Amino acid sequence: MAVAQFGKLVKAEFLMNFNIKQAQYSDLPIIADIHINELKGDLLPFFGKVFLCEYFYPLLLKSNECDIYVVSHDGEISGFMVMDITGRGVQKVTSCLYKELITLGLMNIFGLIKFIPQIISMFISSRQSGEIMEIAFIAIKYNLQGQGIGKYMVNHVIELLSLPCVVKTSKNSAKHFYEKLGFIPIGKEYRGLRCLNVLRHY
Ligand SMILES: CC(C)(COP(=O)(O)OP(=O)(O)OC[C@H]1O[C@@H](n2cnc3c(N)ncnc32)[C@H](O)[C@@H]1OP(=O)(O)O)[C@@H](O)C(=O)NCCC(=O)NCCS
Repeated sequence: MAVAQFGKLVKAEFLMNFNIKQAQYSDLPIIADIHINELKGDLLPFFGKVFLCEYFYPLLLKSNECDIYVVSHDGEISGFMVMDITGRGVQKVTSCLYKELITLGLMNIFGLIKFIPQIISMFISSRQSGEIMEIAFIAIKYNLQGQGIGKYMVNHVIELLSLPCVVKTSKNSAKHFYEKLGFIPIGKEYRGLRCLNVLRHY
C-alpha cells in the first residue's frame, strides 16, 4: 500500500474515535474555555467566561435559530462549532444581551477601546446578515489542531443540515482551511475597519 494511502487510513481510523453531537448545558464551560483560548482577538471572549457561560451560550442553546455542536473523544470535548441557521440568530442573541455587554464594557472601558471597530461592525452586520446558514464560530483545542478534526466536524454538520452555508472570516489561515473543505470565495465584506472574506459552500 502506498504511504499516502496508509496515512489516509490511519487518519480515518483516528477520526472514527471522535463523536459529534449537539451541545448540552453542561458542555458550556468547556466550550467557553475553547472559545476564549482559540478566538482570543474576537470581541465576545473579551467579556469573559462568566458572560459566555451564563448569558451568551445559554441563550444560543435556547434559540431555535442556532445550533451548537461539539466534537469529543472519550467524553472529552476537543472542539465546537456554532451554526447560525438563519444567519441572524447570533446577532439577535447578542442584541438581547446589550445591558450585560454595556455593564461589562464599562467595567473595562480601556480594554474595550481596541474593539470599537468590531462593535461598529456588529451594528452594521445586523443589517447585512441573514437568509443563509452561517458558520458563526468554530474552534478546535490548540493541541488537537491540524489532525483533521475541524474538517471532520464541518463536513459532518453541513451534511447533516444539508443547506447552503457561508462563512465570514478575516483570518487568512481560516480562509485556507475552508477552501480545503470546498468553500468558494464569493467576495469580501467590509465592516468598520475589518475586511472579511466571504466563502460559500453549496
Ligand atoms: C481553523 C480550525 C477550526 C481548523 O481545524 P483543524 O482541525 O485544525 O483543521 P484540519 O486538521 O481539519 O484541516 C483540514 C484541512 O485544512 C487545512 N488547513 C487547516 N488549517 C490550515 C491553515 N492554517 N492553512 C492552510 N491550510 C489549513 C489542513 O491542511 C487540512 O488539509 P487536508 O485536508 O488537505 O489535509 C482550527 O485550526 C482552529 O480552531 N483554529 C483557531 C480558531 C479559528 O481560527 N477558527 C476559525 C475562525 S473563522
